[in-house]
Amino acid sequence: MAQRLAELYPTAFVTGASTGLGRAFAEMLLAEGVRVWGTARDPARLAELARHPHFTPVALELRAGAAAEAAFQAAAVAAGGAFALVINNAGYGVFGDFAATDFAVWQEQMEVMLINTARLAHAALRGMRAANRGALVNISSLAAEFPLPFQSAYNVTKAGLTALNESLMIETAGTGLVVLDVRPGDYRTDFEGSVRRPAGATTPRMERAWAAFGRMMLTGPEPAHAAAALRRALLRRRSGTVRCGRFFQAVMAPLLSRLGSLPLRRRIQAKYFDLG
Ligand SMILES: NC(=O)c1ccc[n+]([C@@H]2O[C@H](COP(=O)([O-])OP(=O)(O)OC[C@H]3O[C@@H](n4cnc5c(N)ncnc54)[C@H](OP(=O)(O)O)[C@@H]3O)[C@@H](O)[C@H]2O)c1
Repeated sequence: MAQRLAELYPTAFVTGASTGLGRAFAEMLLAEGVRVWGTARDPARLAELARHPHFTPVALELRAGAAAEAAFQAAAVAAGGAFALVINNAGYGVFGDFAATDFAVWQEQMEVMLINTARLAHAALRGMRAANRGALVNISSLAAEFPLPFQSAYNVTKAGLTALNESLMIETAGTGLVVLDVRPGDYRTDFEGSVRRPAGATTPRMERAWAAFGRMMLTGPEPAHAAAALRRALLRRRSGTVRCGRFFQAVMAPLLSRLGSLPLRRRIQAKYFDLG
């Protein structure tokens, strides 16, 4: 009989479980018999998931690092001391020209998506180390390899998260801990709709990049596709990179990028975003 994830990971904590990829991860884990603690800023957004007897809603705002960690620790106590699986998924986008955007907006994205996500990763690994078992999944993005135009803070947070994941894979090698660097391509979620566009001058190039970004998000696979990729990776019980999404983004682009030169890659990427 096929192994169920609950045998490996009886408990899980998933940030940003109200919608999109996080919700698909939570639903996949519940279907696998895992007890899931899922977060949203407003727990009312978790009402549907909360109908499941194995789901516990948690209020968590990632802008407030100490409070977010306290919410995580309280949930960990309720889960028996430590989570077997932690998925750092919550995130958002900001679209704008670097110099024209208020620097505070840029800095806030670092704090929310890199520093405070790392803070939860730190707390998670401390809990797992005591038992020498568990899996930490930080949701990065293919943007860590192929930066999105006019989303510099997003690209930097994801590249930073991927670097953290790589560092943790080295540190945890030979232990019972698993670290997954998950890099999704474009998926059909609420992400595009929630991307902030701070006030400021726009240009035809920006509008073309924005339109291309929107088209790719709208035509991407459903979030359940990413959840299936994560499930397969978790069952392998090995640290590593998980690229998922449409074939061109998740398979062809990384392959071509390894074979070609950086200037060529930049030209192809510019064309892809209608900036060539
Ligand atoms: N969709 C894609 O194509 C794609 C591609 C690559 C990577 N990703 C990454 O996948 C993750 C999920 O994205 P998604 O596409 O599923 O987006 P989404 O549908 O917009 O969902 C984002 C989730 O993050 C939560 N969130 C946003 N800001 C938060 C904050 N300040 N504090 C706490 N929670 C917050 C939201 O919860 P509430 O608003 O309910 O609080 C929501 O549950 C993100 O890290 C994103 O960067 C997405």
